[in-house]
Amino acid sequence: MPTTLEAKTPRLVTALPGPNAKRVLEQDAKFMSPSYTRDYPLVAKRGHGAIVEDVDGNAFLDFAAGIAVCSTGHCHPKVVAAIQKQAAELIHMSGTDFYYESMPQLAERLGRTMLGTESKKVFFTNSGTEAIEGAIKLARYATKRDKLIAFYGCFHGRSMGALSLTASKSTQRKGFGALLSGIEHIPYPYAYRCAHHHTEETCGVEILEQLEGQIFKRLFDPEDVAGIIIEPIQGEGGYVSAPKFFLQELQRICRQHGIMFIVDEVQSGMGRTGKWWASEHAGIEPDILCSAKGIASGMPLGAIVARESVMRWKPGSHGTTFGGNPVCIAAALATMDLIESEYMENARRMGDYLFGRLADWTKNFKIVGDVRGRGLMIGVEIVRDQRTKEKAADLRNAIVDLAFHKGLLVLGAGENTIRLSPPLLIDQEQADFAVRTLEDCFREAEKKA
Ligand SMILES: Cc1ncc(COP(=O)(O)O)c(C=O)c1O
Repeated sequence: MPTTLEAKTPRLVTALPGPNAKRVLEQDAKFMSPSYTRDYPLVAKRGHGAIVEDVDGNAFLDFAAGIAVCSTGHCHPKVVAAIQKQAAELIHMSGTDFYYESMPQLAERLGRTMLGTESKKVFFTNSGTEAIEGAIKLARYATKRDKLIAFYGCFHGRSMGALSLTASKSTQRKGFGALLSGIEHIPYPYAYRCAHHHTEETCGVEILEQLEGQIFKRLFDPEDVAGIIIEPIQGEGGYVSAPKFFLQELQRICRQHGIMFIVDEVQSGMGRTGKWWASEHAGIEPDILCSAKGIASGMPLGAIVARESVMRWKPGSHGTTFGGNPVCIAAALATMDLIESEYMENARRMGDYLFGRLADWTKNFKIVGDVRGRGLMIGVEIVRDQRTKEKAADLRNAIVDLAFHKGLLVLGAGENTIRLSPPLLIDQEQADFAVRTLEDCFREAEKKA
């Protein structure tokens, strides 16, 4: 019989939370900041592949991957070996002041993944929000303009600059006072709730008209706009994809006015959608691309990748003590090897398989309003009534909790969406388990509805 971690599907041996988990929860309540948002009491101890074991020996199938971070699964042996080797050799030197070989190696590899003939330059950070923070500064620096445009529903991070762009939930801003000025938000093309009844291919025509006809004429002269920033698939906002034409048109508008086209691929990138970047599906060439999360399989790393002609800031204009730490870079190089050799293709294949299995959910379950996304970035929107599309946050929360009690880890996104963002290495047996478990949860939730 395989050990708990070698098994492919969950095994629960205690009631949840178990006795050891309860002890940790008590400690946590005493000593940890109450700002964290835990949906259910998972107390993780070990992980392997797509399986996570808790402190009581319960094994879960992980369809959350630490918020889409553990791209190569938990503790992939090749990633662990790369981290161990690097940790024994050099842990820190600060790339701001010194050089080490792996830094430009990773930068070159990342740059090559981006579309466009112009070569790219890279600045490494410790997180997604820092990548966004740097992108704001770079866009302002490169254009000598200060205005920015972002989208409702977007999540770009929680540091003050990134938070000024974020327009996901008001609790994320409440109580923190004035943010950056000179930022306007416009609607994101959300086909399922499109006010103009467009399809997934055409939703957003009116938003572009609003941008050019209203924002540029009445609020910001386009010559004052430093950047337009968009998630090609909104993550925290509910796994909503922008149509191809919309991203292409935004690029045209940016080029026309000399505005930096900034693409936030912190959640959607690193092979999750079956290509390195979700924006690649639209064939666009961002001026600045931000990455983090899945880039180093759980080690803290982010990257700002920009066209060479854009990233021309002077020495001292931007820096970091830890960003691009050698251990994180080693993890990222091993991660890129794995994604390139097998997991990006697996994400595409398993994504197609899952979408095939989920195709009838809106017919079979009256609380499933929409199933959307790409590759292994899948959103399932839960509604009270398919006709009115009334959002059912309570049912979504109940489903997430029920799934946990059946051994499946998922997270919510947006007000009423379940996000499926497993490690990119899942197989068919694991996909089938997740589908069956969620179907059971829907049936139980429907009884409560
Ligand atoms: C699209 C996007 N951008 C930026 C961030 C911020 O990243 P971090 O939490 O690493 O600061 C996130 C985090 O969820 C994200 O999903």
